[in-house]
Amino acid sequence: MNTANTPTLAADGLWFGKDLSQSEPIPEAAIEQAVALMRSGRLHRYGEQGAGTPEPSLLEQEYAAYVGSKYCVAVNSCGAAMFLALKALGVKPGDKVLTSSFTLAPVPGAIAHACASAVLVETRDDYTTDLPDLERKAATIGAKVFLLSHMRGHITDVRAVREICERYDIALVEDCAHTMGARWDGQHTGTFGHIGCYSTQTYKHINSGEGGLLVTDDDDIAAQAILMSGCYMMYDQHILRPGPEVFERWRYVTPNFSMRMSNVAAALLRPQLALLPERGERWRRIYDNLAQAFASVPHVSLPVRDGREDFVPSSIQFSLDLSPPQIEHFLIECETRGLYIKWFGLRVPTAFTSHFEHWHYLPEQAPMPKSRGILRQLLDLRTPLSLTPEDCQLIGQIVQRAATTAAAQPPGELPKDKS
Ligand SMILES: Cc1ncc(COP(=O)(O)O)c(C=O)c1O
Repeated sequence: MNTANTPTLAADGLWFGKDLSQSEPIPEAAIEQAVALMRSGRLHRYGEQGAGTPEPSLLEQEYAAYVGSKYCVAVNSCGAAMFLALKALGVKPGDKVLTSSFTLAPVPGAIAHACASAVLVETRDDYTTDLPDLERKAATIGAKVFLLSHMRGHITDVRAVREICERYDIALVEDCAHTMGARWDGQHTGTFGHIGCYSTQTYKHINSGEGGLLVTDDDDIAAQAILMSGCYMMYDQHILRPGPEVFERWRYVTPNFSMRMSNVAAALLRPQLALLPERGERWRRIYDNLAQAFASVPHVSLPVRDGREDFVPSSIQFSLDLSPPQIEHFLIECETRGLYIKWFGLRVPTAFTSHFEHWHYLPEQAPMPKSRGILRQLLDLRTPLSLTPEDCQLIGQIVQRAATTAAAQPPGELPKDKS
């Protein structure tokens, strides 16, 4: 929590005070396996000799079966998975890559890493991709790839996206950092396009501190991803791998970017996979409780969610229909009551930066009035699984009090310590 500007406590006695960044403990079976690996010293995934099947290879097999894809490649972050995805799709320096305007810094970062040029697509009121804007840009800019971010678990109609991409011969990569375990119309996100990328960083649905997974059904993409991730030609230690003739096509022309997942990270993740359905249900209950608590709060609105979206919300977003100075008042009112809420409309890059106007390394973009307007009023609350129904009620009361107080302030007047 940001304590730098913490004002005095509120007089009304409403106090939350829980650490919303608290993660779930790692299952005992995972800890035991990680300790056993540490005792053996075998922390790396590839070895020239011995030690059976590496944990990442088993994880890849289990995760691919879970989402229903042919291949999975375990890497050291979702950012790395997205970078490898772009490289495996043949993105070259200067190529254009369409991407979501509502996303987190590692997404444009992966495009910059591939020396490509990001072109942002507008965001709708429900925080998903604006399909007419996607179609317009797909038709005119000559992009090779659309890197679609299901930011904060808001799933765009991926079938419609796929149709647009197919019409203009654009490859589709899904950033599923926030949608592991989530489905669109019954099908796992990450399996609609050429490649799906997931994160296992702390705060995600499963946690290895840092880590990422790339899934694909394509033999050539899988072989390149394995080689680029840094298998040192020991690709036969992958259980899921294309045939030798596919590697023969790529082994002399594919660089090693050393983005492997370690044995220990995979050992920590494998027992967590089985927990995904139960965690999903618990997150959904928390979301529903909070949505109910926010339902009658003036100036607050939640996005309307599509019936085909089976989402796994590890956070909740809402729009606050107030001016930016009033929103600053709102945040202070919440903080005074021990509730840390993040605002996508912040003027300066802060913490997990996620406003496209802060990424000055991007090439010049067309005006983005919709995305700008949405982010200006968009608030974000982490929802750890430890939140109880009573916590959700209390959060609702605090948000109500803060919104009412903020709305009573002159719309142009910043809080005293911010002016
Ligand atoms: C929307 C989004 N995409 C991608 C990533 C990248 O994940 P990682 O930190 O594993 O690189 C994140 C990280 O939080 C994210 O929020």
